[in-house]
Amino acid sequence: MLTDQQVDRARRLALTLAGIELLDRHRPLLESRGRRLGVGAGADFDALLDLAERGDPGAGRLFIRLVTTQFTGFFRHPRHFEIAAEHALGAIAARGGARLWSAAASTGEEPYSLAMAIIERCDPGSRPAAAILATDIDAEALEVATRGEYGDGALASLGQGRRERFFSEPAGAGRWRISPEVRRMVEFRPLNLAGVDWSLEGPLDVVFCRNLLMYLETGHRYAVLERIASLLAPGGLLIVDPAEHLWKAGHWFESAGDGVYRRRRVAADIPGRKQAWMAQGRKG
Ligand SMILES: C[S@@+](CC[C@H](N)C(=O)[O-])C[C@H]1O[C@@H](n2cnc3c(N)ncnc32)[C@H](O)[C@@H]1O
Repeated sequence: MLTDQQVDRARRLALTLAGIELLDRHRPLLESRGRRLGVGAGADFDALLDLAERGDPGAGRLFIRLVTTQFTGFFRHPRHFEIAAEHALGAIAARGGARLWSAAASTGEEPYSLAMAIIERCDPGSRPAAAILATDIDAEALEVATRGEYGDGALASLGQGRRERFFSEPAGAGRWRISPEVRRMVEFRPLNLAGVDWSLEGPLDVVFCRNLLMYLETGHRYAVLERIASLLAPGGLLIVDPAEHLWKAGHWFESAGDGVYRRRRVAADIPGRKQAWMAQGRKG
């Protein structure tokens, strides 16, 4: 069992390193993940916290593993991929190219699904003029994504047609490798959304930021959404999980339903802000 002091330190560190808000209900999860990752609740946990607090990169990576969940899948919420691919095709037709970003790409299933959805809508043999940037804070997840090899379990959500078209089975090892035409459309890069430097330029046509915002502390969540809004082209799409919403950053977007939001050309008025401004005007 973790002590209250250990949990408090972990809470502060998760916020500092990743903008993640650990709540009391996350305590059992922290303990079970710690056991799975070989970090016992006693001195092991203290040693990990000591090192991670001092900026040790290996300890930092392990700690990030401890406080994040990598659950993902191919074509999770299939409709999102149809909408994103159609939008990308519109951008290609209008401007000759599309730029998409999967901002919490985990082990790669999401950006690869996006690439497959775009390829399926293009002429066979053509190279779609779409570039997909896929980023995540978790170095280990990105290694899996970059390798592009998946087991039968991961491919279970794909139909036979997509398996045959987009995967080959290397050396009969029960592992399936993503095809070069999908792989070359996706660039993987580490990026901490709570960090200052995103090294990322707009305008982007589509941003997937699914199943991450719900873990972020309110201030970080707002900052991430505001930065995404500034990178999206007017009319560009932000896609989150249908169970997530945009909290106080909603004025940058209009809802298109089911977790899909369209970047407004001009941010909508925030009722609270407008009232404060009017009250100030009255005082002056
Ligand atoms: C549940 S997965 C979501 C995967 C995919 N977007 C999906 O919906 O299927 C959440 C991902 O967010 C990543 N993550 C957590 N905090 C992050 C941060 N501060 N910056 C970037 N990625 C982060 C985790 O490493 C994890 O891979």
